[in-house]
Amino acid sequence: MIPKAELHCHLEGSVPPGLARELAARNGLDLPHGLFGANGHYAWTDFLSFLDSYDRVCGVLRKPRDFGDILYSYLQRSAAEGAVYVEMFCSPERPKALGIPYAVWLGALVDAVDRARRDFGIEARLIAICIRHLGPDRALALAQQVVAEPHPYVVALGMGGDEGKFTPADFAPAYRLAYENGLGCTIHAGEVRGPESVWAAIRDLPVTRIGHGVRSSEDPKLLEELVRRGIALEVCPGSNLALGLYPERAAHPLHRLIESGVRVTLSSDDPPFFHTTLGAEYDNAGLDAATLRKITRTAIEVSFAEQSLKAKLLKGVAA
Ligand code: ADE
Ligand code: ZN
Repeated sequence: MIPKAELHCHLEGSVPPGLARELAARNGLDLPHGLFGANGHYAWTDFLSFLDSYDRVCGVLRKPRDFGDILYSYLQRSAAEGAVYVEMFCSPERPKALGIPYAVWLGALVDAVDRARRDFGIEARLIAICIRHLGPDRALALAQQVVAEPHPYVVALGMGGDEGKFTPADFAPAYRLAYENGLGCTIHAGEVRGPESVWAAIRDLPVTRIGHGVRSSEDPKLLEELVRRGIALEVCPGSNLALGLYPERAAHPLHRLIESGVRVTLSSDDPPFFHTTLGAEYDNAGLDAATLRKITRTAIEVSFAEQSLKAKLLKGVAA
């Protein structure tokens, strides 16, 4: 099995329907209205309705241990597919809305990372993610919280949500604070919006990675700039196809991005929503084993893990 590393997966988007049902039952909740379609899959129709559906899944998470359990469960499934490292997007907005203190929520996640290492030999780190459509003030408050209570497993600041709202520059204070305090920086861009969204992100924020960024393929000058600056793309083809960015795999720019020399990694984004897994992304990429191994090495190199862990993981991939 090819060793794999994943840099772009959302904790709350990783919950399979069966686990969402279990958590709802455990918390004495009715399943959120409209969560599932007739086929038992999460029901959504386009990007914004996907974000709604994602929020409804978040509604079944109530206790600190719920967050820890979904992380542990994801790491177990990833390890079974050959993942050696996962960097997970975790939103502190969720526990905050539930009145769970940051340290308690984080403690549950840290415990899950430690248990998964012990039980499955997989390593993981966390990216605190803000939600773009909630606005710059919330993002700054989130960054302040993360910086005020640092933990070696929380390695970066990220941002998802509706790319159509606000501009990267609006979030510069949050990102500057994170960057000045030694955190890595990544942002979703060039997913539902075009190359200009990626240009703005790399101009106005100290990011070394772009979440998705696939629409950079529409602008050769932007590709050159990404290569020149060594900025990596967290490419999630299954997500892009499910959300209708591209009509079919043949139209997806993955191969063109690799050929351009941009640093490309492969991830699953919100796997059960998009009927994918990290293993499926590797299997369906249409790339040979040597290229897939290189993608894993790139992912480890551009990850926000500490140098000693990167070195150890790279050794394992070479072996
Ligand atoms: N949050 C979860 N998945 C996302 C995606 N693909 N784009 C933006 N925000 C997200
Ligand atoms: Zn994402």
